[in-house]
Amino acid sequence: MTAKKSDSKQSHRSPVEIGLSAEACETSRDGLVRVLADQHVLYLKTRNFHWNLIGPRFSSLHGFFERLYQELEKSIDETAERIRMLGEASPGSMAEFLEQATLKEVAGGRIKGEDAIAKLRDDHEQVIRNLREVVEKTGEAGDAGTEDFLIGLLRSHEQAAWMLRSYLT
Ligand SMILES: [Fe+2]
Repeated sequence: MTAKKSDSKQSHRSPVEIGLSAEACETSRDGLVRVLADQHVLYLKTRNFHWNLIGPRFSSLHGFFERLYQELEKSIDETAERIRMLGEASPGSMAEFLEQATLKEVAGGRIKGEDAIAKLRDDHEQVIRNLREVVEKTGEAGDAGTEDFLIGLLRSHEQAAWMLRSYLT
């Protein structure tokens, strides 16, 4: 009984002494893991479309998709490192990411520019909606650093969604 009590006390101790409770760290970690999982799916999908794109706007879209996945690559690194800053371990395998992701993968195959843009726009919009929820939860948990990081991420996805939308007629 006593040991059990002390175990449960142990599990509620924050892994890092930065003024956040273990619960707050867990809330942020859970949100960041979901974001990281979707970033991986979106990163690979964007590369997939960069490779398999066909159509008259190939050249401009090929370069545009490259800039989008480079931006995602940077964000992926920052999201995983943010998880580590909270004293938690980051998932590191595709199996873990696919289990946590809300976005769906697309198998390789030739794709027309308009179709690729519409799919990427939909995904960025979904990530934006997810981010709003996670921002709210981390804000309620009092984790200002993660909240601020996620708001920055939200803005970059809003910009990507706007640029993708602007390619559609
Ligand atoms: Fe390339």
